[in-house]
Amino acid sequence: MYVQDYVCPRRCMCVLFWLCACAMVTLLTGVLCSDGTVPTAPSDPPSPPEVRCWSPSYPFKALCSWSEPPQTPLPIQYITTYSMKGGEIQQCRPYPTSMPPLPSPESSLPGVNGSSPGARRLCVLEGLKLYTSYKLNITAVNPNGSASHLQTFTIEDIVKPDPPVNVTVRVVPGKWKLLVKWAPPPSWSDHTLFPLKYQVRYHWDNKGTPHEITLDPFEDTKKVLPGLFPGRSYVVQVCSIELMGLGQSSDWSLPITITMPAH
Ligand SMILES: *[C@@H]1O[C@H](CO)[C@@H](O)[C@H](O)[C@H]1NC(C)=O
Ligand SMILES: *[C@@H]1O[C@H](CO)[C@@H](O)[C@H](O)[C@H]1NC(C)=O
Ligand SMILES: *[C@@H]1O[C@H](CO)[C@@H](O)[C@H](O)[C@H]1NC(C)=O
Ligand SMILES: *[C@@H]1O[C@H](CO)[C@@H](O)[C@H](O)[C@H]1NC(C)=O
Repeated sequence: MYVQDYVCPRRCMCVLFWLCACAMVTLLTGVLCSDGTVPTAPSDPPSPPEVRCWSPSYPFKALCSWSEPPQTPLPIQYITTYSMKGGEIQQCRPYPTSMPPLPSPESSLPGVNGSSPGARRLCVLEGLKLYTSYKLNITAVNPNGSASHLQTFTIEDIVKPDPPVNVTVRVVPGKWKLLVKWAPPPSWSDHTLFPLKYQVRYHWDNKGTPHEITLDPFEDTKKVLPGLFPGRSYVVQVCSIELMGLGQSSDWSLPITITMPAH
């Protein structure tokens, strides 16, 4: 609704404006206005799905994810296709339930613990070509209509590795240093032709003031953090990035907290 785009000079003006807008909508249409949206009538076609695609295993495979609306009066089916320019139309196949559950990058997935708690849908695009533009069409269909999410992408745009696994942090004996080690994400397809690089970040609190250091990317799968303070606690995380810097870096690995010995 246009109401949402109205820029309010002051907050109270905004509230008043909303109240008036709600009252008018209520009077004119007899529809209950709670948060500025009109409830979906049973005869409505579905809304277009909100789709996010990413490639945790560049270069050959990508995943697309969206969530079903939590309550739908009519059942929704999804038609999921993609094609390169002038090429034949292929199916984005449902992610097999026999596969291990994805280490879901929560920040990048719509609907996971997010605003819409509907079921999560996932499909897999395979055999993608490098530096090639693809058109994705995910269409929600119910008996009363359909709506499409259309998107053009190259796989390079949507690279997003999974975080490194098996991250360990230990104190280097007799030194004020930590040794951080990890293994590359197993989901990445080819570590020889398409290597990953990594970043380590660590943060700590000094008398209530938070500090954080993020190291420049490097290719090794271990790192020594020097110059740490006795008795202080550090929180360490690692992320993966495609070596050329394509796409996005992974989410950070789960935080590991370690306290330096006091002496
Ligand atoms: C589809 O829409 C028509 C007209 O809007 C409506 O009469 C019908 O009940 C709707 N079908 C369902 C299953 O809601
Ligand atoms: C998010 O979802 C996961 C699994 O579905 C659940 O274990 C976790 O508690 C949820 N977190 C929040 C904040 O709702
Ligand atoms: C998207 O897919 C739907 C269902 O197959 C089709 O009806 C629609 O024409 C497609 N849209 C485009 C722009 O190709
Ligand atoms: C991570 O650790 C587990 C258990 O020690 C091991 O089985 C697995 O191979 C390790 N993964 C990688 C990628 O090194």
